[in-house]
Amino acid sequence: MKIETKDLILKTYISKEDIEKIHQNVFSQNETAKYMLWRASNEIEWTKKRLKSWQESNVDLYFVYEKANNIPIGFLTFSQENDTIKNIGLCIGKNYIRKGYGKQVLTALLDYCKSHNIKTVEYSAFHENIASIELAKKLGFVYSHSKNSVRNHDKLDFVEDVYVKKI
Ligand SMILES: CC(C)(COP(=O)(O)OP(=O)(O)OC[C@H]1O[C@@H](n2cnc3c(N)ncnc32)[C@H](O)[C@@H]1OP(=O)(O)O)[C@@H](O)C(=O)NCCC(=O)NCCS
Repeated sequence: MKIETKDLILKTYISKEDIEKIHQNVFSQNETAKYMLWRASNEIEWTKKRLKSWQESNVDLYFVYEKANNIPIGFLTFSQENDTIKNIGLCIGKNYIRKGYGKQVLTALLDYCKSHNIKTVEYSAFHENIASIELAKKLGFVYSHSKNSVRNHDKLDFVEDVYVKKI
């Protein structure tokens, strides 16, 4: 499956060669992983494992390609429960942020929701993740509540702010 925006293509398939590129652009970047639930690693095998585990789970996974250069620069994950989308993971590699790409991806997801009879979209982010929260607010998400969570890989305590948008 393929979703197109002005500058990006979101696709479910990634080639072996492009896994190396997304590893470089996204999964090896500590800065990018700072507020995510996975840890960055320099080992390509770790990235392959991570992607395989998502592909084998019931999470929807899209690779975000920059159209101009046809390279993978980020990803989008989410899960669907009845008429609700939750567990959104939106990630753009550090060299590609602040170009309007996050907004294009989240807008594409909201369009997908409209055509798939989704009524509610939940978006959560680390309380400190200003970029992510500002992006959600810009697209009409409204603060719902916060909860205390612990990140698995490093046992970090963090506050997760949950935002909701009704479609
Ligand atoms: C959060 C993230 C997806 C934003 O993507 P992006 O492509 O940089 O966002 P955009 O360029 O589309 O910005 C859209 C809006 O978001 C807000 N925003 C983005 N970065 C921001 C920042 N650093 N500070 C404040 N607001 C910011 C702004 O309102 C911006 O609109 P503007 O450019 O008109 O001011 C990106 O920073 C990212 O992937 N970070 C690493 C992974 C992550 O933390 N993901 C979120 C997990 S829920």
